[in-house]
Amino acid sequence: MASPAESSQLLFYVNGRKILEKNADPEVMLLPYLRKKLLLTGTKYGCGGGGCGACTVMVSTIHTVTKKIIHYSANACLLPICSLHGAAITTVEGIGSTSSKLHPVQERIAKAHGSQCGFCTPGMVMSMYSLLRNHPQPTMQQINNALGGNLCRCTGYRPIIDGCRTFCNKEDCCQLKENGTCNGNEATDKHNGVNGVNGQHEEPNSVSGDVRFVHFIYIYTPCVPENKT
Ligand code: FES
Ligand code: FES
Repeated sequence: MASPAESSQLLFYVNGRKILEKNADPEVMLLPYLRKKLLLTGTKYGCGGGGCGACTVMVSTIHTVTKKIIHYSANACLLPICSLHGAAITTVEGIGSTSSKLHPVQERIAKAHGSQCGFCTPGMVMSMYSLLRNHPQPTMQQINNALGGNLCRCTGYRPIIDGCRTFCNKEDCCQLKENGTCNGNEATDKHNGVNGVNGQHEEPNSVSGDVRFVHFIYIYTPCVPENKT
């Protein structure tokens, strides 16, 4: 539960860290807040107007009717911090890094040569990560839709899609239709030369990421049981 002192403040979470703002400026967007105040510069400033997806983060909130946590990707450049009360934000720093361990999305995009200058990559990763949180084995259509708001000026998109398509569900694993031996991600990995983290086959739930950070937001909705992500 929020303490009385906290209840009058703006409160949200970034990668599990509790953020309290006493006099939040309604004109401040999440993107500059992340980059300048929290020094989380993995979220990139591209267009600043919702057109490029370089600033994509995942927002997790509690559905007002079902009381379940919902996840969606959003452009941080368009999100006023004052709209985030009670929400949990996940940035690219929150899912993995080369100094700790890459998330499968990061690793597979990299191994498929889907990152060149790298400026668009955090946004691509977070769009794909958000999709996997909702659909651990997405269809190609869902992948294409999820990445539809992310622009890349280097790769031509194909390598990015190649990395992401390794998460596809079996029926939609278009790379292997030619020989009819599709066996899900494992076979896709062999075919495409893209492996899961440390060469391991990733189960859907671990591919989509374990329960990271978002359980904090239940603290502010105490009637909802825990672990309902
Ligand atoms: S910076 Fe381009 S969409 Fe946010
Ligand atoms: S890798 Fe350079 S913009 Fe996508």
